[in-house]
Amino acid sequence: MKAVVYTSKRSHHKFEFCEVETPVPKENEVLIRVHAASLNAADYRPMKLGIIPKSRIFGADVAGRIESVGKSVTLFQPGDDVMGDLARYGYGGLGEFVAVPEQAVIKKPERISFEDCAAVPLAAITALQALRDHGQIRAGQEVLIVGSAGGVGTFAVQLAKHFGGVVTGVCSAENLRQTSFLGADYVIDYKKESITTSNKKYDLVLGVNGKYSLATYIKVLKPKGKCVIVGGALLPVLTAFAFGWAFSVGSKKIKAAYTSPNQTVLKEISDLLDLGVLKPVIDRTYPLEQAGEAMDYISKGHASGKVVVKIIQNS
Ligand SMILES: NC(=O)c1ccc[n+]([C@@H]2O[C@H](COP(=O)([O-])OP(=O)(O)OC[C@H]3O[C@@H](n4cnc5c(N)ncnc54)[C@H](OP(=O)(O)O)[C@@H]3O)[C@@H](O)[C@H]2O)c1
Repeated sequence: MKAVVYTSKRSHHKFEFCEVETPVPKENEVLIRVHAASLNAADYRPMKLGIIPKSRIFGADVAGRIESVGKSVTLFQPGDDVMGDLARYGYGGLGEFVAVPEQAVIKKPERISFEDCAAVPLAAITALQALRDHGQIRAGQEVLIVGSAGGVGTFAVQLAKHFGGVVTGVCSAENLRQTSFLGADYVIDYKKESITTSNKKYDLVLGVNGKYSLATYIKVLKPKGKCVIVGGALLPVLTAFAFGWAFSVGSKKIKAAYTSPNQTVLKEISDLLDLGVLKPVIDRTYPLEQAGEAMDYISKGHASGKVVVKIIQNS
């Protein structure tokens, strides 16, 4: 099969479009013909740290058609159209085929395109679990989303509005209109003002991207407010992961959250997609042979929504 394979950090051309062995599904695996894949910080951040998938093929999110199934597979059959997040299953979306355990995917909504389905899993699950499960978002709450313009951020704005929050997004001037368009009630341009400038306080702060310290996040919380950190500058993220609630001050709580994908939450996300509650914002789409350029683009950290790689063109 054709795939885009990571070669070396030192090389100017880190990725090679080449022929590799088509994977053979194990007993519990399905072989997916990938129609579209999308990229995430979960692709480029490990790459920058030298953490490379065993297959050397990145691509966490995929949508495609089941080509064949292993002997013990019960949930799918050849011909089923599926979507999933493969970050915990060895990645592999940037190739024509990928073999993964059947638990990694669900059937995709019929009327949603492969491209849209591929744009959703990891980023939308992260946003949903952070806001709902960790942040316990409630209607009427003031919600601040720091880093509202990337993959996770664009889904977080839509979900926070869906749950009835009064949403303030934080992004650069280039993305102010996009964040408003997605439903945010207020938008802060982080290059012009800080989240502390207005003195406004929030019930829930979601840290997706940005360089604020944990002390700054605590400062903008209302009493009993919660701050959930999923990403952003390494120091606050690592501190929040290492010390969790220990950083909380009085009734203000701060914690870091990992995304925890499974078929149940993936189905919830696909239902929201099918209902039109969630709409992926696709910044750029690349053909498979240019997936290296797609990785270079998203690695700069300023994609405006999602970056998709389309492996089968008219699908
Ligand atoms: N904890 C977990 O399990 C988990 C899961 C998924 C992702 N994450 C983390 O979540 C973060 C976002 O992931 P992603 O895939 O959504 O990344 P992404 O799509 O690459 O994020 C790009 C966005 O970040 C924004 N951004 C960059 N610098 C910013 C700043 N200083 N302040 C505010 N926004 C800024 C950019 O907006 P502008 O161009 O407007 O600056 C851009 O739209 C990453 O740190 C990732 O590691 C964590």
